[in-house]
Amino acid sequence: MIETIAELRTEIELDLQSIKDPASLEAFRLKHLVKKGTIQGLIDGMRAVPKEDKPAIGKVLNEFRQFVDTAFAQAKEHIESNDTGIEPIDVTLPGRIPNIGHVHPIRKTLDRITEIFVGMGFSVAEGIDIEDDYHNYEALNFPADHPARDMQDTFFIDDSRGDIMLRSHTSPVQIRMMKHHAPPIRSIMPGRVYRNEAVTARSLAEFHQIEGLYIDKGVTFADLKGTVISFAKQMYGEHSTFKFRPSYFPFTEPSAEVDITCYLCSGKGCRVCKHSGWLEICGCGMVHPNVLKNCGIDPEVYSGFAFGFGIERVTMLATGIDDIRALYENDMRILKQF
Ligand code: DAH
Repeated sequence: MIETIAELRTEIELDLQSIKDPASLEAFRLKHLVKKGTIQGLIDGMRAVPKEDKPAIGKVLNEFRQFVDTAFAQAKEHIESNDTGIEPIDVTLPGRIPNIGHVHPIRKTLDRITEIFVGMGFSVAEGIDIEDDYHNYEALNFPADHPARDMQDTFFIDDSRGDIMLRSHTSPVQIRMMKHHAPPIRSIMPGRVYRNEAVTARSLAEFHQIEGLYIDKGVTFADLKGTVISFAKQMYGEHSTFKFRPSYFPFTEPSAEVDITCYLCSGKGCRVCKHSGWLEICGCGMVHPNVLKNCGIDPEVYSGFAFGFGIERVTMLATGIDDIRALYENDMRILKQF
């Protein structure tokens, strides 16, 4: 009898392990726990046990019954609470679509501009955001008392030198390029710039510019025009029309500003172009001989052109976003559209 109990115990332990769902639970119950089940079979077998052995064997049998009842109750609770250790999969549940990030419109513009200039043989260089007065102004031909310095309201960094600032334009990278590389130089220099300006729909205190510089023997204003127009046609479309307006920058002579027909009204005049039909896209000019000299380049031998434009401005033209702040507010409803 003791042996039979031990054998059944081994079998029941195996069967308990295979209880995985309501069906196997029920199969276990029908096999072992019903009137014609194995446990009842053992109890019935007690009748044949000699009287003097009954108390000892009865005790073992009772313990065994208790073990099986408890194990079954636990298995039942486990199955009924669905606690299988494995998350049930509801295959009818619609999937969650992950939010996939994408390139920000400013970065997209920058990438496109870079691609166009690289296609024309320009390399890409980067400067530093914290500059000194020499690179940001002086070497660019802004004399100390020159009123042109008032054109930019600079963020100075409070240090003992007193001439350290957040760069107000990317033009100082030109100086670093020319000082460290011998001509020919053909580079674009993108980066972040800072100005102490009120934040409005048209201006921010922190924005991006891209600077261009081409220095070689015999570079003329015609090269400048050709390069800027070729770029702008690739950027804004083959049919765009342009206007070079004389302008002034201390670091170029002659200097010009370039306008493109307004993308919104095609030149008829609207709110975006302030009813002029034109939108300014960049400043440019022939690098001033003083700037070349400041960088150790002989203006009698070399000449070159430079240009600079704001990336946010180009992005606004390309996307039709008419408030510059929208580019920085990270409103997904806006960003998702581009
Ligand atoms: N640095 C000028 C600005 O911030 C932009 C500029 C104008 C850059 C003419 C140039 C240039 O290289 O030739 O307004």
